Amino acid sequence: MVRIVLGSDLAPERAADPALAQLLTQGRGSLAFLIGNPACRYRLLGGAIHWDRVLLAFEGEQALGFAALKHDGRGPFALHWRPFIREFGLISGWVRFAGFCLSELREWRYPFLLYGLRVSKAARQQGMGSALVQACCAHAAKLGFTQVELEVPLNNPRAKRLYLHNGFALRRKRWVPFPPVRGMWRGVP
Ligand SMILES: CC(C)(COP(=O)(O)OP(=O)(O)OC[C@H]1O[C@@H](n2cnc3c(N)ncnc32)[C@H](O)[C@@H]1OP(=O)(O)O)[C@@H](O)C(=O)NCCC(=O)NCCS
Repeated sequence: MVRIVLGSDLAPERAADPALAQLLTQGRGSLAFLIGNPACRYRLLGGAIHWDRVLLAFEGEQALGFAALKHDGRGPFALHWRPFIREFGLISGWVRFAGFCLSELREWRYPFLLYGLRVSKAARQQGMGSALVQACCAHAAKLGFTQVELEVPLNNPRAKRLYLHNGFALRRKRWVPFPPVRGMWRGVP
């Protein structure tokens, strides 16, 4: 039985479990050229997570998926330059940090963004992704938002299908080809 919990409602010792931060930093793979592989992303971003911007799907005690959210100018990751300098050195660290900040800023026009969604491989095709999307929409409605937006990579038809099946519609094609994503949106009651 799947249980979906807002990260900030977890007991502090549970949220401190490194496995949760490791799960979350598996996301943002499209920015690997800036923030590296999952192990590197964990070192860069895993230490400062905004748990009130994360819905976690648990089966028993094990977290098997998450939906990350961005609203009111705040996403799941706090922006700290120090880990970037530590990881990549002074120049490359600043360049990568600036690039990551720019990519984060780009999304601030969305009032409520489904920033990331991921289900562990072994738990896919069982409805967990849909349950997380539905929980995200219910959370947005509870906070008073009227719609949820997201950006789906053009090379991810599986995710696009999942969003279409959960009530999202495609936005018009963008004029700018980078980043290669398509906007989607859904009204929430
Ligand atoms: C995209 C992703 C989150 C989907 O998660 P998921 O848990 O597999 O999603 P669901 O199980 O709800 O839906 C997937 C399919 O399984 C089907 N399904 C759901 N419950 C099922 C069940 N009990 N038995 C069989 N099939 C089922 C759904 O109908 C759906 O089919 P569709 O693709 O034809 O619509 C997952 O593949 C993932 O983490 N991918 C990598 C990260 C990623 O791409 N994230 C999206 C970024 S925009």
